[in-house]
Amino acid sequence: MARNKFDVDEVLETPFDIRHLKRSLVYAAKYKKRIAISLILSALGSVIGLLSPLIVQNAIDNYMIPVDQASAVAPNDRVKYIILSGVAVLACIIVSVIFAKIRSVMMTKVGQDIVYDIRKDLFEHMQRLSFEYYDSRPHGKILTRIINYINAISDLMTNGLINFILEIINLVFITIFMFFVNWQLALVTMAGLPVYAFIMLVIKNGQRKAWQQVSNKSSNLNAYLHESIVGVKISQMFTREEENAEINDKLAKKYKKSWMKAVSYSNLVWPSTDVVSIIVRAFIFVVGLIGMRGMVSFGTIIAMTDYSARFWQPLMNLSNLMNTFINAVANLERIFEMMDEPVTVDDAPDAVEMPEIHGDVHFKDVTFAYEPGINILEHLSFDVKAGESVALVGPTGAGKTTIVNLLSRFYNLSGGEVRIDDSDISKVTLHSLRSQMGIMLQDSFIFSGTIRDNIAYGKLDATDEEIRTACSIVGIDNYIESLPDGYNTVVNERGSGLSQGQKQLIAFARTIVSDPKILVLDEATSSIDAMTERYLQHGLDHLMRGRTSFIIAHRLSTIRSCDRIMYVSNKGITEAGTHDELMAKKGDYYKLYTAQSV
Ligand SMILES: Nc1ncnc2c1ncn2[C@@H]1O[C@H](COP(=O)(O)OP(=O)(O)OP(=O)(O)O)[C@@H](O)[C@H]1O
Ligand SMILES: [Mg+2]
Repeated sequence: MARNKFDVDEVLETPFDIRHLKRSLVYAAKYKKRIAISLILSALGSVIGLLSPLIVQNAIDNYMIPVDQASAVAPNDRVKYIILSGVAVLACIIVSVIFAKIRSVMMTKVGQDIVYDIRKDLFEHMQRLSFEYYDSRPHGKILTRIINYINAISDLMTNGLINFILEIINLVFITIFMFFVNWQLALVTMAGLPVYAFIMLVIKNGQRKAWQQVSNKSSNLNAYLHESIVGVKISQMFTREEENAEINDKLAKKYKKSWMKAVSYSNLVWPSTDVVSIIVRAFIFVVGLIGMRGMVSFGTIIAMTDYSARFWQPLMNLSNLMNTFINAVANLERIFEMMDEPVTVDDAPDAVEMPEIHGDVHFKDVTFAYEPGINILEHLSFDVKAGESVALVGPTGAGKTTIVNLLSRFYNLSGGEVRIDDSDISKVTLHSLRSQMGIMLQDSFIFSGTIRDNIAYGKLDATDEEIRTACSIVGIDNYIESLPDGYNTVVNERGSGLSQGQKQLIAFARTIVSDPKILVLDEATSSIDAMTERYLQHGLDHLMRGRTSFIIAHRLSTIRSCDRIMYVSNKGITEAGTHDELMAKKGDYYKLYTAQSV
């Protein structure tokens, strides 16, 4: 059952969780050396940049309006010192800018390295997630997580994180400098802090929720977009364009609304900080010029208003960075949630390698349900001898595909045991099991790339000879060779340049090339014309010789010659035997077969 249809939000308002940030720091820890150098450069740049108000203060108080006439510099030298001060201020600015540039280049690289690591981990995990995970989620939402959310994180890692730290460093140094120059006026600046904190707390809360809504709505929109692209042909066939445009419109409007709301919260941040900053600076003048008359020099007041303006700057930047931060934490939540998604079908802790498969298969009292409580198979038992070819037939939805899926352990059983030779398949590694199985799924998937790549998908080192042999077994070699680029012909994802039958034959050849110990063909020939199928049958007989094979087919002529035919219905196998035996029995198989022969 789909857990998240395109118009259902994923998670509503999860609380802000600092653990997500901590966890992203685990990724950052790998690059601690480079981060440390960046931080040192930032600190140095910040200190050097903050020297300029001191130099200005010194120039005003000693060379422009000397406070202490007795020890003042000779008037002739004043101009020289003022010019020197100007040069010093310029030098400070240049050095701090150079440091900032170096730091920025270093951190951009670190940020991208971190994002690369997250992307890699996520993809590796994603590949291990079971069929169950993909069955129950719109693929567009999974795509959104991987693309959009990681891009947003990329923004945080390259700019957000370092700027955040940098602004904190700035803040600390500005505070130190302020207290160093005049602690009373420094306290005036600090008096604005509680007001600022109150405003931020109120805005921040609303802002966080608003950004979560944005990512939900964007995820919904993407899920629908993905579904629409994949299903575009059906939409056009049923002339659903108008209705679909309406659905898209609704989703896009919801997205726009959530975005506008989030932005309006963010837009509150800057003006609020600005107002606090201006009021505080005005107070410095009032307190410095009136309240502390004669106790502070004019140079000190100028230096302090400069520091005060600078003090609010990092705070303003920090509150702006909060946007990126809040947004990114919401995204981190989703990404880590996916990374934490349990791999329900995984190697047991004490899993061993599956020895080379001989081919005996045993289903022992197998019960299975996709959704808890709705059993698809109940107490199913059967044994297949090595080398035997078994056909699974029966009505649509009876559980034929399910049986073969269980054989490769794509799902966990609800009860019972599946054994291949002497091994319980839940106790061997998935890789050692699946790499010996050749499964051709009901919907043959073609990857983008060349036909050759597609056929060698499960055996990358397959020789041209092996590929050609496989194609000639399934009878598609002539077609492929007639193409201008032959085996190097590029096909699109899902094989949109190929006919359904051609796709099946290529998928068939792919299964053959992997030289499996157990062959599973699920409706492998349903889209192939009768002539090609008859031709294919010879190749298939050759292929199945000495190999345990499971063949699922609705077209019963294909499976007549199988060693055994099992009729699947009623959550189990109701009839089994050779074609002749089952025909003689005149049961369900007989009815199905005669219905087709008419
Ligand atoms: N991923 C899934 N999640 C939940 N239920 C499923 C899932 N896949 C299949 N089912 C259900 O399990 C039952 C058996 O499905 P299965 O695909 O094994 O049938 P089948 O015999 O292969 O049918 P067909 O001949 O149409 O291919 C069906 O009723 C189907 O609705
Ligand atoms: Mg099926």
